[in-house]
Amino acid sequence: MQDGQIRRLQVEADAGAYEVIIGDGVLHRVDEWLDAIIERKATLLLVYDEALAEFLYHQVALDALRSRYLVVAAFALPSGEHSKSLEMAGRLYQSAIQAGLDRHAVILALGGGVTGDLAGFVAATYMRGVRFIQLPTTLLAHDSSIGGKVAVNLPEGKNLVGAFHAPKLVLYDVRLLRSLPDREFASGLAEAIKHGVIADPDLFAFLEASADGLFARDPDLLTELLYRSCQVKANVVSQDEREQGLRAILNFGHTVGHAIEAMEYGAYTHGEAVAIGMMAETRIAQAMGLATPDVAERLGALLRRCRLPVDLPDADQNPHLRDWLVEQMRRDKKAELRSLAFILPTAIGTVQIVKDVPEDVVKGAFFA
Ligand SMILES: NC(=O)c1ccc[n+]([C@@H]2O[C@H](COP(=O)([O-])OP(=O)(O)OC[C@H]3O[C@@H](n4cnc5c(N)ncnc54)[C@H](O)[C@@H]3O)[C@@H](O)[C@H]2O)c1
Ligand SMILES: [Zn+2]
Repeated sequence: MQDGQIRRLQVEADAGAYEVIIGDGVLHRVDEWLDAIIERKATLLLVYDEALAEFLYHQVALDALRSRYLVVAAFALPSGEHSKSLEMAGRLYQSAIQAGLDRHAVILALGGGVTGDLAGFVAATYMRGVRFIQLPTTLLAHDSSIGGKVAVNLPEGKNLVGAFHAPKLVLYDVRLLRSLPDREFASGLAEAIKHGVIADPDLFAFLEASADGLFARDPDLLTELLYRSCQVKANVVSQDEREQGLRAILNFGHTVGHAIEAMEYGAYTHGEAVAIGMMAETRIAQAMGLATPDVAERLGALLRRCRLPVDLPDADQNPHLRDWLVEQMRRDKKAELRSLAFILPTAIGTVQIVKDVPEDVVKGAFFA
């Protein structure tokens, strides 16, 4: 099979810079990409989303890895958010022990954000930390695989236990996105749109021009999209790895988005909730005189073309729902002293942090 174009970018991190390699068909050469950074005597554990077994992606990875490394164990992770648990982490630790993983071992995650977050959490904590490699298989995972945040959920809430543990490499095979259901694909596009709005008007324009080709999974368009979108994320996190300031801009759409996700667990994908959130937060910016109406118009048009929702059905007729959502936003773990703070766009490509947004402005933002 012919390999397409490959794009590479470097992410600076405290624990050492790492590369993101994006291209069509790169997974079957995973061993070659690892060769420069992982010694042949290292023991490897591949954690993969078991839904991928149907497409034999794990087999592609295992065949390549076993051609170069002596001990390569595999762990099939049940699909879905419920796998991001301490209980599942416990099962992974046991499997790592059984496979003989020591402090010099390497854990690889083949899957979406769930697999990456859980396997990364285990890599961060097993024997006080072993090396970690991301092999993302969803579009949304371009967001989760860069930046080094890893976590599991508690029954009380998402991502409540975690660590910062940067990967040594992110190898992104766009060919695997062909089997990703359109709804999951759209969900990942929401984060790319976010990256355009917060920092890169050219990325936003690229999405406007390429949405249809992206849904058709054109490999060169996907490679270009992921390269540009990863670059925005990489730029932000390398300037603020530990989330002291700038990294907050990545939360555009997420203050409202997290409240919507809490509403009916699982009713919306993360990206769908963020899409509604970005639209609501853009209307807040407009109501506060920070953005002209064309920002909301362009964003709304792009979200629709990317098959994402722009409104919360019934929110205009349901004041109780709006009260409840605002209460969730005040409780957001990132909210300071229950204030309503938002990342608001002032134009496509620029955002501003605004604290103490009046409650009635927030409630008015759920409908156009
Ligand atoms: N660490 C971070 O910085 C960060 C950032 C954003 C999101 N996240 C986390 O990421 C998670 C969501 O990630 P996600 O949307 O990738 O979810 P996911 O890993 O659950 O994948 C979504 C679905 O797609 C399936 N799938 C994956 N790859 C596929 C493929 N190539 N073909 C067919 N089906 C495939 C999976 O089995 C699953 O059903 C959440 O837990 C969220 O908290 C973390
Ligand atoms: Zn997100």
